Amino acid sequence: MELVIGNEAELANLVANEFSKTLQRKPDAVFGLATGSSPLRIYDELALRVKSGAISFSKASAFTLDEYVGLPEGHPESYRQVIQRDFLGKVDFQADNVKSLNGTAADLEKECLDYESAIDASGGVDLQILGIGSNGHIAFNEPGSSFSSSTGIRLLSPQTRQDNSRFFGGDLDAVPKYCMTQGLGTIMKARKIVLVANGLNKAEAISQLVEGPISSFWPATILQHHPDTTVFIDEEAASKLTMADFYKYSAANQWPAK
Ligand code: F6R
Repeated sequence: MELVIGNEAELANLVANEFSKTLQRKPDAVFGLATGSSPLRIYDELALRVKSGAISFSKASAFTLDEYVGLPEGHPESYRQVIQRDFLGKVDFQADNVKSLNGTAADLEKECLDYESAIDASGGVDLQILGIGSNGHIAFNEPGSSFSSSTGIRLLSPQTRQDNSRFFGGDLDAVPKYCMTQGLGTIMKARKIVLVANGLNKAEAISQLVEGPISSFWPATILQHHPDTTVFIDEEAASKLTMADFYKYSAANQWPAK
């Protein structure tokens, strides 16, 4: 696992570079998209690059990570609406090329099975962007999730519902109890993963992710087993790392030596 510590603008630029490199190598790449506040600066940077003609998602496709169960279609906080507002509406994916879980499907279990199959049928995700919950969840895989889980229906933890109530005007009761999410096993199939986190609220989860033992109690720690994951964090999110200085030193001294 690689770790980069920087300010928000630097991180957005570096993560956007990963998207650009992927598109350069493979214009029809498959992207995995996270919702939430962590990727917003990156999505804005990507939108600027599309606008300037530097990159294009017109041949690419994408899968979002997760969705609440039961929010009515078109609800402003349904993740399909959020990703549309925050990213898709500003870039040039073809609408049919972006898939999301439908939290109002008549058969939610079938919806999850079909989604997992669709990811596999696409050839798999080339670049997955992740945030991390304050309790160490990735997508909506809460503490205790199986490391080999595939896309399915889950119960949200009280902590996550509390954290996300800010998107529902602070009304905890308005936050759905259940969700659908790509599993940890699904995410681990992505060829490359970038995880972004900022703020003190994420410091403990980042310390566990980078320096803690691998444990389903902190689900993101499974990424220590992923062959190509880079974690991009700001100083606050890095504040509980015991070896922050060494990570900065190694980021500045990548092989081949300059
Ligand atoms: C969202 C998702 C979640 C978020 C996480 C952090 O699609 O998968 O795991 O990435 O809850 O959320 P923010 O970025 O809002 O702090």
